[in-house]
Amino acid sequence: MNHNQKEILKLKEEKNAIILAHNYQTAEIQEIADFMGDSLELCIKASQIDDADLVVFCGVDFMAETAAILNPSKKILIPENHAECPMAHMLPREELLKYKKRYPDAAVVLYVNTMAEAKAEADILCTSANALQVVESLDDDQILFGPDMNLAWFVQEQTDKEIIPIPENGHCYVHKMFKTADITFSREKYPDAEVLVHPECDGKVQQMADHVLSTGGMIRHVAASSKKTFLIGTEVDMVTRLRRENPDKMFYPLLDDAICENMKLHTLEKVKKSLLKERYQVTVPQEIADKAKNAVERMLEVS
Ligand code: 13P
Ligand code: SF4
Repeated sequence: MNHNQKEILKLKEEKNAIILAHNYQTAEIQEIADFMGDSLELCIKASQIDDADLVVFCGVDFMAETAAILNPSKKILIPENHAECPMAHMLPREELLKYKKRYPDAAVVLYVNTMAEAKAEADILCTSANALQVVESLDDDQILFGPDMNLAWFVQEQTDKEIIPIPENGHCYVHKMFKTADITFSREKYPDAEVLVHPECDGKVQQMADHVLSTGGMIRHVAASSKKTFLIGTEVDMVTRLRRENPDKMFYPLLDDAICENMKLHTLEKVKKSLLKERYQVTVPQEIADKAKNAVERMLEVS
């Protein structure tokens, strides 16, 4: 542990705080986190926090907002308030309302990577870990699904329901970097490796992979697999966590420069300041939070 990490652990105790971190955080933040996970696991954890006064959320805006929606009486802090997920801003509430007007009979399933105002207009949310399960849980045959067109494609491949991606080109700039040639090239280098990619990757990349999984799904898959080598098609620090937890296995990023700059805005220095100054608090207006909470809780019920 370095000096900053030791200070953070001390402050954490003094303030009765817990640190939640997404799987894309750097090694030094992973090391001081109380809990790490994918978006669904972090949502579930956030719904179960009852003995902490402060929650420091090392993730992007929509994740911290979801924690705030589920914990109205807790102080939710984000160490860097510019840590935004660009995809979550690709479907603002006003756009969503236009689609709802155009397709009045469709159910609305929103990826958790959306802002609270949009979540408040959804019937139910989903994450990359439960998207198909959520869609199949509905009676409706026509589904407005956004904002990730690739996750929409992933679901459409496995359901008879009509999935309408909204907006037309919603995507993640990090997962968009992966091309089928990256898989071809890496398989030549590591012929025994299993290729795991995230459903935010392009459909053609998903088709070439051995498995398409959420980040939490990748962790569970690797732990249960007898394979020894894995090529990881998602943000590079996913490999950091997989290596830490599976020292007997080999992990290689499918692309070294698949870096989510937004997630990387959090640093130990900022986590320390966040605890010291109790900043930056993430809040959601009550009326929006109440509506959004229904959609989050409906998802948690079917997960
Ligand atoms: P996971 O829920 O699979 O961790 O994905 C979150 C995310 O933002 C992927 O880019
Ligand atoms: Fe958003 Fe993509 Fe970063 Fe995930 S990897 S937080 S979807 S920008």
